[in-house]
This record gives sequence, C-alpha cells and structure tokens, in this order.
Amino acid sequence: MANISNEEFNKIRNSVNIVDVIGNYVNLEKKGKNFFGICPFHDDHTPSMSVSFEKQIYTCFVCGASGNVFTFIRDFENISFLEAVKKIADYKGITLSKTINVQKKYDKEYKAYDLALKYYKNNLNTDLGKKAKEYLLSRKINEKIIEEFDIGVSLNDNNLSKLLISKNFSEDMLLNIGLVNKNEEIYDIFRNRIMFPIHNSNGIVIGFSGRIYNNEVDSKYINTRETYIFKKGETLFNYHRAVLDAKKNKYLILCEGQMDAIRIYSSGLKNVVATMGTALTREHINLIRKLNVRVVLNMDADKAGINAALINGDLIKNAGISVSVVTLTGAKDPDEYILKYGLDAYKDAISHAISLFDFKLNYLKSNKNLNNANDLSEYINNVIDELNKSNDDILKDVTISKLSEDYNIDKNILLSKLVNTEVKKDVTVKRKVKKQNQNIRAVEEILYYMMNNVKYAKIFTKELNYIPDKNYFDLEKDIQAYIILNNTINLADFISYEINNGKEELIKNIINNHDSDIEMDESEFTNYIKIVNKWVIDSKISNLKVELKNETDINKKKELMDLITKIKRGSEEYGK
Ligand code: UTP
Ligand code: MN
Repeated sequence: MANISNEEFNKIRNSVNIVDVIGNYVNLEKKGKNFFGICPFHDDHTPSMSVSFEKQIYTCFVCGASGNVFTFIRDFENISFLEAVKKIADYKGITLSKTINVQKKYDKEYKAYDLALKYYKNNLNTDLGKKAKEYLLSRKINEKIIEEFDIGVSLNDNNLSKLLISKNFSEDMLLNIGLVNKNEEIYDIFRNRIMFPIHNSNGIVIGFSGRIYNNEVDSKYINTRETYIFKKGETLFNYHRAVLDAKKNKYLILCEGQMDAIRIYSSGLKNVVATMGTALTREHINLIRKLNVRVVLNMDADKAGINAALINGDLIKNAGISVSVVTLTGAKDPDEYILKYGLDAYKDAISHAISLFDFKLNYLKSNKNLNNANDLSEYINNVIDELNKSNDDILKDVTISKLSEDYNIDKNILLSKLVNTEVKKDVTVKRKVKKQNQNIRAVEEILYYMMNNVKYAKIFTKELNYIPDKNYFDLEKDIQAYIILNNTINLADFISYEINNGKEELIKNIINNHDSDIEMDESEFTNYIKIVNKWVIDSKISNLKVELKNETDINKKKELMDLITKIKRGSEEYGK
C-alpha cells in the first residue's frame, strides 16, 4: 500500500459524514439514534443495514458487512481501499501526499480491447465491411451513431489475432480475456458480426456483443464470455454514457437490448441502459442505486418481456428503488417503436409509465373475462395476494376501496383477507443472535470497548494485560500500538489502520456481535475483565495440572501443587 499515514487517512475520513456518503447510495431512514437502509451487500428486502452517525460506521445484522466510509465505497464500487480513499479525497478536494494509481492492474487487457475496437471499426469502412455498413444503414443506424457507439465489424479471418500478437500481447492473456480462441493456432472468436463494444462503468471497453448481419442461421448475438474483466451480471450496456443524464433527469430507462438503448439514446433520451437480455442481478441494481434515481422499465412487448418486467420490477422495488413500467403497443421493442412512431410518441409513452402495482393488476386481468364469476374471483384473490406482499397501507386501502366499488363486493370481506401488517412489521428488524462461548464474548466486548476509547485500553493493561487466544491478543497489541502512535483511538479510524494489518475480518465480527443498542459502560467492562481473568487463571491451572501429571520428581511435584493452590487462592481473592 502506498505510504499514507494514519493521520492522513483519518483526516480524509473525518472530512465526510458516513451517513451522507452512504445516503448517496442507499435510502436511509432515521430510527432511534441510527439510520437504517437496505443492505447493498446481500439480497436484502428489509432495511438490515444500520449506519451510526456517532461512531461513523455501518453494520448489517444479516450478512455481517461492516466497516467505515472507505470500506463501504471499496466494497460497493468494487475498487481497492486506496482508490476508495482517493475517491473521498477527490470529492472533498483534498490533495493526497502520494499518487494513487487507479486501475493500473488491467492496463494491458484494456489496451488489447481498445486495439480490437479500432480494428473492428476500421473494417467497417473497407470493402469487406460494406455489407455490414449497409445493414446498419438499413436499420437507421447512421454514421453519427456508428461513430458515437464505436460500432465495427469482424471479418471472416484471423487478422485480429495476428494483429494483437504482432503488438506483443501475450497469447495467454488474449485467451483469458476472451478476445481469441486456440486450437493449434490462435484464431479470432468473432467472425462476420457487427461488433458493439461493451464498457464498464468507467467507460473502458471490456467486451463485445456481435450481431449477425448476413447469415440468418447463426445465433443472433454472441457476446464475450465471462472473464475476469467482463461479467455480464455486473455490466449494464451504455451505463457510463447514461450516468449524467440519468442524474439530471432523475430517472433511468432500463431496456433489454443494446439496439434499443442505442436507438433511445441517439434519439435524444440519453438516460438509458440495457440489461443485454439477462436477468437483473444485485450488482446491476447497485449500479442503478448509485445514481439515486427512479427506474422506468421498458422491456420488450412480448411475453418474455412482460415476465422480465414483472421479475425486474420486483427486484428493483425490493431494493428500495422506485420503479414504473412502460408498455409499448404496436411494436415489439423500443427500437421498433421509435422508428415507427417517432420520438414524441415514445416520450409520451415514458411519461405515461404506470406503477409496478398497476402493471401487475393489468397483467392479472389479461386473459380474464371479469364478467365471469370464476375469472373475477381468481382475479380478486390474486390482487389480494399481491397486496399481502406489500407494506404500503395506503396502497392497500385505495386498492380495496376500488375493488369494492368496481366489482360491487363488500369491503369488509376484502379487508378480512388481508394479512395483518402490524404482525408483519414486528418480524422485520430482529437482530440475529449468534451463540458464542462466554469467554470469547467477553474478549470481543473488551476489544470493542478498547477500539472506542483509550480509557479502556489503559484499564486493560492494568487489570488483565493478556488474552489466551492468539488472534484476539494480536489485535489487542495492534490497538495498543495504534494508541501509542496516535494518542487516541476510535473505531472508524482504527478500521483504516487494520486494513494494512490484516485483521479487518476479526474487527467485522466484533462489531457484528456487539449489540449497539446497549451503551458502553465501565462496570460492564470490568465485568468482562473478570470473566477473562477467570479464563486466564483456569487455563493456567489446567496447564499446570497437565505438567503435574507428567512430573516424576517428587520435589518438583510439590512445587507445582503449591503453585496451583496459590493461583487458586489468588483468583478467589480477585473474585471478591
Ligand atoms: P433481442 O432478441 O430483443 O434483440 O435480445 P434486440 O435488442 O431486439 O436486437 P435486434 O433488434 O434484433 O438487433 C435482447 C438482448 O439480448 C441479448 C442481446 O444483448 C440483445 O440486445 N441477446 C439476444 C443475446 O445475448 N444473444 C442472443 O442470441 C439474443
Ligand atoms: Mn430489436
């Protein structure tokens, strides 16, 4: 790690409030003295992550994620600790004493992709690329769009492989990043396809999607396979271009295909991304979450698209992001819709996006004849099932009233089918209590106190000064070393220090096992010291007993017995 001092880490950490920073990624709600939000590090449905203003740390009582503002940024953005530190420093306009190189790691890989992009692009303007160009133009992808999206074409040869090898890229690396394949010789993977580069959220090309244009028997698209730099489940097509406009307009359009995203974007709505036909993942949702905007879902109009809207809609909503749904009629997807009806009609459709709940009602109604008693009762029961999944009491009331009016059904009968929300609410926030050995529990609490306040570190040295478990004792020594260096200690800063010293996991466990609802209290601390002291003595005695058993010299045996008695007596004294 670059040589950045504790002091510098602490200054940067102190320049921001963790509640504000995490609040940019996750909706936080104040409850008591802490803030709660949906945890972005596991598939969370109820707010399990708490953020403490007082301690400047976060912790999730379900998955155990915890740390300070730097570890949050590191884990959320999937960057290194130092990059996270730099991010906060940049944000606050603080200049770091050392240069932190961001993303040097995959420089070669990125260069190879960049060269491939240029090569494919160039092909499009050659004779061999003519057909592909004609295809694009026939689909109203004009020169300007081709340029903006760096669209190219792969040819029926191995020239990319040859080019990359001639530029001294290693064969292994090229194989590993999915640009080439190998039998006896290496060869080009993409052939005769229109090539769409795919970027990561920093705008760096990490993969391609290739579409057929002259051979209708092949599969329509092939994409770069999963590699260490390209993960489809963590990539949204066009994300890096959409960020600014999404924030500006406070919403993001989410569609399925890259052709759709390209069409929507180049028509003027730049706040659009595409899933590239895959199921939405938690990582996708985290990318969206970072924008802090609502989502307008615009899946294809076919059956698969409706299903995708239902599934993705729930995933987004459960992540605490507000979502509405557009249904297009008269075209199979946004690309076709815009070409057929124009941008204004599309904008109109976007502005008439309906709530996810209404979308579900429409879906439940489709293929049903509500004049038929069986169909109607099935529909009403389905709606009630949906309502029972929701925590929104107003939505429940409005929907029940509407059902009652529209279909002339006694409101009380409908209400009686609702599951009591009060009961449901009670089970949402319940701390997971881990069973733990009492001695370890006491040690963890002692260390927790010590990481928060120098006072406790001093009492420890005086009253105990030993822990019979190497890992915990090592951490204790780190705490003392930190205090000597800094004259003070707090949990949030000590976490930064331990990133260098490798005990982050241990600290996470300690934070997680600590019940933050209980205030720290000196008499509690003394109590924990007593427990561990007894543990120390018990383990000393049992070690001596083993020695005694193995000892043959009668005098030495006597010495050992005296020592055991002395320790026992001493411990009784201590216990008083
Ligand atoms: P679609 O079949 O809806 O394609 O697949 P599209 O976007 O309308 O493309 P065009 O208009 O026919 O050219 C949606 C997305 O699913 C992925 C692609 O990312 C595509 O954009 N997909 C589709 C594949 O990865 N492989 C396939 O064989 C098909
Ligand atoms: Mn299409």
